[in-house]
Amino acid sequence: MNPADEELITAARGARRFAYAPYSRYDVGAAIRDAEGRLWTGANVENASYGLSICAERAAVAKMVSEGSRHIASVAVSNRDGGTPCGMCLQTLSEFAPDPESVMVIVTDDAGGISRHTLRDLMPFAFRSDGLGRD
Ligand code: THU
Repeated sequence: MNPADEELITAARGARRFAYAPYSRYDVGAAIRDAEGRLWTGANVENASYGLSICAERAAVAKMVSEGSRHIASVAVSNRDGGTPCGMCLQTLSEFAPDPESVMVIVTDDAGGISRHTLRDLMPFAFRSDGLGRD
């Protein structure tokens, strides 16, 4: 494991401590490294109106983009059983990953397991269209 990935995993694990998941009791932390090397973290934020819940990965993307950064280099996720990011999160990550083959998504579990996939492997057919915004 290279030091940059170690740092990203540590950030994801740290972010997980802030998960607000009283309904599912499934805490998730995510960390994104952007093209400039900056780290952006997020945790899942649930709501009594369940459908309003925000995943950790999308929380991290929202922080990154709303602070002026738009290019994802790599992602780490921490949850108890190594669950990979959901489809909604993969689509959201893909929006800011022009070369998904080069973006590693590292998922860690509580048993010490680490899985690594490219974003392209997890989301080979993200929706994109040049036609949006046209009449
Ligand atoms: N969750 C994430 O944070 N990321 C995912 O990719 C999948 C699921 C959260 C949403 C909810 O708070 C909890 O995990 C259980 O679904």
